[in-house]
Order: sequence, then structure tokens, then C-alpha cells
Amino acid sequence: MTGGVLERLAATIAARKGADPTTSHTAALLAKGPAKCAEKFGEEAVEAIIEAVRGDRARLTAEAADALYHLLVMLAARDLSLADVLAELERREGVSGVAEKAARAAPLAPVDVRPATADADIARCLAIREAVFIHEQSVPRELELDGRDVECRHYLATLGDQPVGAARVLQQGDRAKIQRVAVLSAARGRGVGAALMRRILDDLAAEPGMAEAWLESQTHALAFYEALGFVAEGEEFLDAGIPHQAMRKRLRDA
Ligand SMILES: CC(C)(COP(=O)(O)OP(=O)(O)OC[C@H]1O[C@@H](n2cnc3c(N)ncnc32)[C@H](O)[C@@H]1OP(=O)(O)O)[C@@H](O)C(=O)NCCC(=O)NCCS
Repeated sequence: MTGGVLERLAATIAARKGADPTTSHTAALLAKGPAKCAEKFGEEAVEAIIEAVRGDRARLTAEAADALYHLLVMLAARDLSLADVLAELERREGVSGVAEKAARAAPLAPVDVRPATADADIARCLAIREAVFIHEQSVPRELELDGRDVECRHYLATLGDQPVGAARVLQQGDRAKIQRVAVLSAARGRGVGAALMRRILDDLAAEPGMAEAWLESQTHALAFYEALGFVAEGEEFLDAGIPHQAMRKRLRDA
């Protein structure tokens, strides 16, 4: 079985950690440290890319085998195992399974949005944000989980009982900042994002003294927020490497 070969190779590499560098090629590589192992992986990956572009299937097979070996060595150099990577793949399969199920249920499934106050609902919001921002958009985990969740109100959107959307609201005096608006990719384009935003805006407008909602939109989503009455202001800027634009919406007439 293919998984078996990879697992045996990973186990052999792990066993070479700390071994005498003169006794094995793997031990010698690991002794040079993680940066060297990463460089080797990069070289092998580029060689595989070259063969993939050329279309030489036999050479691509050989280079892919080299690349897999060096990927495992690089992981071992940073104390990560094949099992860690397989666990991450399984976790993603779970997330996409949720999204896929939601998408299948979608045509007749009603969108519901509720404030997430129970721990289980907040965990659902965080799982959606992790899937969208950390995995899909490659936002660094430490930027996404900025430690301010405890100060925020959270909202969870469901589609036919499946959690598919999340957002949080940070109160700042008579303004409220709406952040982390996310809908799982398989559930997009079905009105979930708009329902989530409308519920948040309705709740804010019902709060005495709350004057304005504002947010920092990724520029690709400007039209989404404009349709909800937000107006762009100021210059575009980069956050986590993604272009953003401040937008605001008055909640009551001045
Ligand atoms: C932006 C996002 C929240 C929209 O959610 P959604 O559930 O797909 O949006 P909806 O289906 O409710 O769309 C509502 C309207 O906005 C439009 N819209 C949705 N996403 C849009 C986008 N990225 N750009 C322009 N218009 C968009 C829809 O076409 C729809 O218009 P319609 O009513 O005329 O048909 C979702 O695409 C998402 O999570 N993206 C990844 C994370 C992200 O970028 N979040 C924004 C951070 S600022």
C-alpha cells in the first residue's frame, strides 16, 4: 500500500535523527540542520516541476520520489512527522465534508443567523474562520487569532442546520467594528453572507446610542458591503498581505 511505503520511509528517517552522520545519507542531511534540509527540498521540488513541465513521466516519477523523501527529511528536521501532516489533511477533509453537506442541503435550506454565546457555537465560528482565513486565504494563524475574541460578540450562520458562516463585532464606544466575516466556500453565493451582515446591522441599529458600523473590507468584497449600504473611505491598505479598504455605514440619521 502506498501509505505504507511513505510511513516506513518516514519511520526510517525519524530513526536516523541523532545517528552518526558518517553512517547514513539521511543522518548526514539532518546533521546539517533544518535550513539545509529545506534548501534540498526546494531543489528537488524544482526538479520535479521541470520534469512536469517537460512532460517526461518517468523522470517526473523519479523526481517526485526524491521530493517526497526530502519533504519528509525537512519535516523531521523541524520535529514534525508524516502523521502530523496526515492528521491535518484528515481535519480538512472533515471541514470540506461539512461544507459539501451544507451545499447539498442548500436549495431549500433556510439561512439562520444567531448570536453565538455558547462555547460550542463560538468554537463553530472559530472553525469556519480557520477554514476560510487560515487555510483558504493563508492568513497567518497569529494574525487571525489576535486574542481579541473575548472582547467581541460573535454571530453564527447556519444553512439547513450546518454551520457555514461567522463574524464578530467589536464595540468601540458609539461605533462597532464588524470583523472576520466568513462563509465556507461551498456555501457562498446563497445569501448567507448578506443574512449574517443584515442580522448584525439590525442588532446594532436596535442598540440605543450606537451610531455607526464600520469595517475593513478585503477589496474583492467591496461590492458585497456596498450592497449593504457601506461606503468606502480613505486609501486602500495591506493587512496580512491582502488589500483592504475601510468602509462605514451610519446606523441612524445624524
Ligand atoms: C465575502 C463573503 C462573506 C460573501 O458571502 P456570501 O454568502 O457568498 O455572500 P451572499 O451570497 O450573501 O452575497 C450577497 C450579495 O453580494 C454579492 N457578493 C458576494 N460576494 C461578493 C464578492 N466577493 N464581491 C462582490 N460581490 C459579492 C453577491 O453576488 C450577492 O449579490 P446579489 O444579492 O445581487 O446576488 C464570502 O465570499 C467569503 O467568506 N469570502 C471569503 C472571506 C472574505 O473575504 N471575507 C470578507 C472579509 S472583509
